[in-house]
Amino acid sequence: MKQITDLKYLFEPRAVAVVGASANKEKIGHKILANILSSEYKGKVFPINPRGGRILGQKVYPSLLEVPQDVDLVCVAIPAPLVLSVVKDCASKKVQFLSIITSGFSEIGQNELEEKIVNLTRQHNMRILGPNVFGIYSAAAKLNATFGPAKIKPGNVAILTQSGALGIALMGRTETEGIGLSSIVSLGNKADLNESDFLEYFIHDKQTQVVFIYLEGLKDGPRFIRMLKQITKKKSVVILKAGKSKRGALAAASHTASLAGSNKAYNGISKQCGVIRAESVKDAISRIKYLSHSPLPAGENTVIITNGGGMGVLATDVCDRHKVKLFNDKPALKKIFSKVTPHFGSTKNPVDITGQAGVAEYQQALNQAINHPLVHSIICLGCQTAVLDLPKLAPVLEAVFKKAKANFKPIVFSFLGGVEVEAMIKDLKRKNIPIFNDSDEAVSCLGAAYFSYRFINAPREKLYFSQLDLPLIKEMIIKAKAEKRKLLLPHEAVNVMQAADISLPQDVVCSTAVQAVTAAEKIGYPVVLKVISHDILHKTETGGVLVNLNNSQQVKAGFSQIIKSCQTYRPEAKIEGIDVCEQVKAGVETMVGARHDPTYGPVVVFGLGGTLVEVFKDVNFRSVPLDLRQAKRMIRKTTIYTLLKGFRNSPRADIQALAQTILKLGTIIYHCPQISDIEINPLNVLENGKGVKALDVRILLS
Ligand code: COA
Repeated sequence: MKQITDLKYLFEPRAVAVVGASANKEKIGHKILANILSSEYKGKVFPINPRGGRILGQKVYPSLLEVPQDVDLVCVAIPAPLVLSVVKDCASKKVQFLSIITSGFSEIGQNELEEKIVNLTRQHNMRILGPNVFGIYSAAAKLNATFGPAKIKPGNVAILTQSGALGIALMGRTETEGIGLSSIVSLGNKADLNESDFLEYFIHDKQTQVVFIYLEGLKDGPRFIRMLKQITKKKSVVILKAGKSKRGALAAASHTASLAGSNKAYNGISKQCGVIRAESVKDAISRIKYLSHSPLPAGENTVIITNGGGMGVLATDVCDRHKVKLFNDKPALKKIFSKVTPHFGSTKNPVDITGQAGVAEYQQALNQAINHPLVHSIICLGCQTAVLDLPKLAPVLEAVFKKAKANFKPIVFSFLGGVEVEAMIKDLKRKNIPIFNDSDEAVSCLGAAYFSYRFINAPREKLYFSQLDLPLIKEMIIKAKAEKRKLLLPHEAVNVMQAADISLPQDVVCSTAVQAVTAAEKIGYPVVLKVISHDILHKTETGGVLVNLNNSQQVKAGFSQIIKSCQTYRPEAKIEGIDVCEQVKAGVETMVGARHDPTYGPVVVFGLGGTLVEVFKDVNFRSVPLDLRQAKRMIRKTTIYTLLKGFRNSPRADIQALAQTILKLGTIIYHCPQISDIEINPLNVLENGKGVKALDVRILLS
């Protein structure tokens, strides 16, 4: 049977039943019924309780089956062991959605009961919110089917929360902060509906302009990523993520896997998806409030207007941190602001209208900025002075905010001073004016708006898939699997690289020292020797790699030294041979990897090469597929980029070839689910135009 994918009647049910509605005011079933009745919900409401009678003036039905009409949404608030029988009633009644408030399922290990419920709902084409939720609020239906606060202000912010307690607290907080909600959904155990289903709904929900998600874990990472990429092209999404665990790092068999567990993957992928990340509840509230009341900018020219030079300079630093770009066309700034700035002030950005500025001067300067088409956003700063009449300033700032909003120009205010300033801030905040006593908070809100603006307006490039000799790669995988190996041997890994057109140094696998010398003479000195053994994962640590061998004696001695060292380190290891390789000329040593991440699906990683990558964590992740621009951006966001772009006397490295290598690994991982990890470390990036060389490749199978 086809599942319902349209959540319309969850958000706009035509009739709602509350199973477990109770006359006892302390019970959750009572509170949900009371909240539904006190919201302005226009549909029919049916309390269900075997006792019958009336609750809150409503006729109570002893069973759902006795309700005389169809019901779209059933809120279930009875103990866990009784829920399955109610689900059966819902199936008979052809209910579409269940919001199962009840706890006591998979969150405490009762998976079997939860699975039974899910299976039954799937058979009958019903969808479940929860279990273990506080319910759902929907402004579209004026329906508060939660046991949170009764009063919710309607608006344009949708909240998805995995934590019930935090969600209920947020409902209260949004009310006091003046944030209007289009909906709030408690995700609970996500036995059926999960965050991606709701994001898909919010993409098309006209009332929702800003989405806030409190996330602990993901049900289907790749789908979540797809949904995020779609919604952030239209709306702002703020995510507060908890559970930044290092667990994944413990059992990891590659650097890539280890780093993926370190939250680096989440950071990179969320950036790639256009997510505004919040670090705390306070941070999240401040950003969603700002985004819900202010327009996105139409350009990058920000102007600071201040009455204090110091405050302006501090804000300039903060702008840099939050990637807010200050308008820097001095002649244009002079033209715009010279009439409203005293000669001892400054029309350079920050525009300093000086400590003698009163209300009128602020008003004139702000109006100039609002009216001029070259100014796209405004940061208005102020220090309390004796000439600044704060009670008169407040209505001016309010009017300025309204005018700026009508002109699609974001504006933030930050004022510093004593009791009167604090009182003005409190008063204006209540009117949803973005005013703060901390310029960092003000600019970070504007920075969030710019992040969304840039993502929405970024040119869309074609996702990149490189040419692959897939049959050859599959052949390597089948062979390894047949031999029950989880690791491709070096020559197999080399074949995979060649199938993806990734350049490698010349090499010959040898089983004797004499063969090794012959190979080295053919390749040309200096050469590198590497052990080949599928029992040895980390070759350097076992003494399995020797570099800079310049003549036949050194090759001969090196051959014996590697065998001896590996046998000492891991006596049980079977050594298949020694690889004699061309020693690649100096370049920048990097690491490029790709993996099937258990949470996010196929990802690529780029960073510092060598064994120190796990120490410095100078890496960046992206989800696959991605485009060339995104691959270059992930390179630019690492510290090693400083070396790649040319440092002191060293030339610029071949960043184009490096980005293409990232995309090639992405293509392999995307098309080969049997591969769990590929890592090229080091990947030597040569001088611009000369390409890259994969010096060591490790490919693990899932
Ligand atoms: N149909 C309708 N009503 C039924 C029923 C049925 N099949 N079986 C029992 N009821 C009635 C009960 O008689 C009771 O009504 P009463 O007060 O008139 O006697 C009412 O439903 C509630 O049942 P009760 O046994 O009293 O349970 P409760 O209210 O103490 O607890 C839950 C029920 C769901 C609230 C509780 O089991 C629970 O899970 N609490 C945690 C909820 C939670 O925190 N969720 C996550 C939030 S993020």
